[in-house]
Amino acid sequence: MSGQSLAAPNAGVDEMTGSRRTRVVILDFGSQYTHLIARRVRECGVYSEVLRFDAAPSEIAEGTGAIILSGSPFSIYGEDAPKPDPGIYELGIPMLGICYGMQAMTETLGGKVSPGTTREYGPMGFEPGDKHRLFEGLSGTAKVWMSHGDEVMEPPAGFEVLGRSADGKIASIGSDERRFFGLQFHPEVVHTEHGKLVLENYVHEICGIPSNWSPASFVEETVAAIRKQVGDSKVVCALSGGVDSSVMSVLIHRAIGDNLFPIFVDNGVLRKSEDHEVIERLKTRLGLSIDIVDARGRFLDRLAGVEDPEKKRKIIGTEFIRVFEEEAKKLGDIKFLAQGTLYPDVIESISVKGPSATIKSHHNVGGLPEHMDLELIEPLKTLFKDEVRKVGAELGIDPDILGRHPFPGPGLAVRILGEVTAERVAILQEADAIAIDEMRNAGLYNDIWQAFAVLLPIKTVGVMGDERTYENVVVVRAVDSLDGMTAHWFPMPHEVLERMSARIINEVRGVNRVCYDISSKPPSTIEWE
Ligand code: XMP
Repeated sequence: MSGQSLAAPNAGVDEMTGSRRTRVVILDFGSQYTHLIARRVRECGVYSEVLRFDAAPSEIAEGTGAIILSGSPFSIYGEDAPKPDPGIYELGIPMLGICYGMQAMTETLGGKVSPGTTREYGPMGFEPGDKHRLFEGLSGTAKVWMSHGDEVMEPPAGFEVLGRSADGKIASIGSDERRFFGLQFHPEVVHTEHGKLVLENYVHEICGIPSNWSPASFVEETVAAIRKQVGDSKVVCALSGGVDSSVMSVLIHRAIGDNLFPIFVDNGVLRKSEDHEVIERLKTRLGLSIDIVDARGRFLDRLAGVEDPEKKRKIIGTEFIRVFEEEAKKLGDIKFLAQGTLYPDVIESISVKGPSATIKSHHNVGGLPEHMDLELIEPLKTLFKDEVRKVGAELGIDPDILGRHPFPGPGLAVRILGEVTAERVAILQEADAIAIDEMRNAGLYNDIWQAFAVLLPIKTVGVMGDERTYENVVVVRAVDSLDGMTAHWFPMPHEVLERMSARIINEVRGVNRVCYDISSKPPSTIEWE
């Protein structure tokens, strides 16, 4: 079968309507890698969407050119094993089952799956047999990532074995007639050599879906959709100067101009002048008219005497909503609230285990819509972070705004351990600005996922000139990470550490000691509180 063209002449075209089927649907059976599958498909330039494993076939079929069944922590034999609606196998849409997905497909279509004699976990060799189109471009044995106990013993009727693992187990099956395929390994993880190539072969060659997503097309379509949804109404949004809210605001502004009312609340625990600079640039360069609210005094009053980090978070969250509501009310007749929700939040909410209780309310302005009775618009909710950055670049936003490190909503309040006072905020702002400045000077800022300074609630002894000092300790933290879920401390070059330390101690009054945090997450967290 090698070399044979699998993309039927009408592949990727809806037989009923003749319109192109351009979406890839990923059914989520609870794998920790589901979002990676979605990302990798997007990297092929194709729009992908994650749906729950039990989505109705009619919902799945809409505009869909390919289906991918994800892996799962469940065993296909488990009592509560998630199973898709069998109707999905009758849609005539090509399908790729990954790990558990392949086993589920095999079991339903009459093949044989068994609990497996040994587990295959971690890197393994994969040998594509008589090279199938799916594996075009792979040479010899490929190193792939496996993680399974159950195994396919016999493919369903009409399927062939397309490849085996180094120890001879069935690692890929396929039916060219139905365009159904299965992989026992995970092509979506970086440890799988040529994994992206396998997905590209599947999406482009077998399913016939062309690359069609681009930041420019996203901007064009989203601007049109926002105009249609919003009409002449007014939209309010919170603008923090972070990547998501900046891109969201500029995008909506492109659609509806000055009917967008972004509100920037200075809560007194922001980074030194940097946030204001960003807001100024968004105003002058991109023409946003921004309502800047100086609420520093209000927040600091409410934080006085509070040491518990969760209380600090709650106070800042509640006060933010109050300030925001007051400002929005002044604007009068507002119909919509825009939020910078991203796709990972959406994926989390369709988890197999039901709407996740762990959704981070801090990603959105928690509670605002019900409170304010506004309709919600979330123009970035189909995008991953890297795509948001690309859209931002398309909109003409400066690279250094788009490359800013993440900053938590409660800001410096969770980086000042113990009580937050105006004086302690000023010390930390200075120290943090120097640390970041030195990372930028060394050309390291963009290599680091997140970096900042922390002010400890203790004092230490030092000596300056001939005098004994008893002053504060600042910790510098810098981490490598992909999504903040896990992180490794950044190996900062010694000379950079030296410059940071010398400058902070010399230039920031009230600090006589600097430490560098060498803890990874887990078991530590990125923030100190
Ligand atoms: P941790 O400290 O949990 O942080 O390892 C992971 C990422 O989340 C950010 N973070 C927050 N962001 N409100 C936010 O908006 C918060 O309360 C909050 N706590 C942590 C943190 O900066 C890191 O990027």
